[in-house]
Amino acid sequence: MKKLLFGVIALGMLAACNTTEETANLTEDNARTATASRKSCPSEEIRAELLKNDAKARARFAAIEAGTEKFIQAKKLGRVLADGTVEIPVVVNLLYRTTAENLSDARIAEQIAVLNKDFGATNSDVNKIPAEFASVAAGDTKVRFRLVKTVRKATSVRSWRTNDAMKKASTGGIDATSPASYLNIWVVGSMGGVLGYATFPESAGQWNDGVVLASKYTGVTGATAPYNLGRTATHEVGHYLNLRHIWGDATCGNDFVADTPTQTGSNSGSPTYPLYNTCGGVQRSVMFMNYMDYVDDSAMYMFSAGQRDRMQAVVAAGGARAGLRNL
Ligand code: ARG
Ligand code: ZN
Ligand code: CA
Repeated sequence: MKKLLFGVIALGMLAACNTTEETANLTEDNARTATASRKSCPSEEIRAELLKNDAKARARFAAIEAGTEKFIQAKKLGRVLADGTVEIPVVVNLLYRTTAENLSDARIAEQIAVLNKDFGATNSDVNKIPAEFASVAAGDTKVRFRLVKTVRKATSVRSWRTNDAMKKASTGGIDATSPASYLNIWVVGSMGGVLGYATFPESAGQWNDGVVLASKYTGVTGATAPYNLGRTATHEVGHYLNLRHIWGDATCGNDFVADTPTQTGSNSGSPTYPLYNTCGGVQRSVMFMNYMDYVDDSAMYMFSAGQRDRMQAVVAAGGARAGLRNL
């Protein structure tokens, strides 16, 4: 079939050439043949005409070239890997009062490693995902994290509120490092019962943009159960990349993810699978093992494919956090 089609096209081309030969004298024909073989594809000439006459097309052309240049630059910087994975550079801002709060470099490295496992679906408990949810599991989200530096500062503050004071030197905190280009993570001694909090992508590049974690729930070795597997960071970075709580922060609320079953509210502790909820008269087995629920660290071990897509949209070229790809 392919061969036949090729033959027909070749015949057609021959016929065209013959017509030209018949109507042109030898010199003209030689010139034309030479031109034709040099410029047998007129796309650029046609484009030049378009760009000459159409200002909007010129603007689109310029934007495409600028975007392409940015992408190439991002690859050079190593922030976009060969397979399209976006490697987010991370700055940890550590505010400590006690020596226990002054987490070691090893503990911080451990936290980054947890993020890379959870976002790559290489976490050791990934095999606990129920068969029912296997087809909607995210797999590798193609988002990774690389620690760039840790900024340490001693403080006399015993307990922090969730008012962003830790994010400004003028209020006893540490100023963010280029928040449009780096994920800033502040680690503080205590926030009462709060494990962590994050800004969503509409805050990209603002002075307060990033994730806050309580030191007790950061990293693994020496962390406090039942939040001692580094998953508060996984959850907060989910928010940072535009994920809502899986229950949509309302009774039978909406998380804008189609493949996470609607659930009545948050779950806690370590629920037994299957767990059924009824919303709008429909009974569903809920995905309480999702990182965006409120269960214990050992009870959460998956993002869904829909959540992966939302996060990728944010770090994609042109996404709200595309700045993380470039300096
Ligand atoms: N309560 C925090 C939040 O809503 C974090 C919950 C994290 N859960 C966990 N198992 N570490 O952002
Ligand atoms: Zn949350
Ligand atoms: Ca949903």
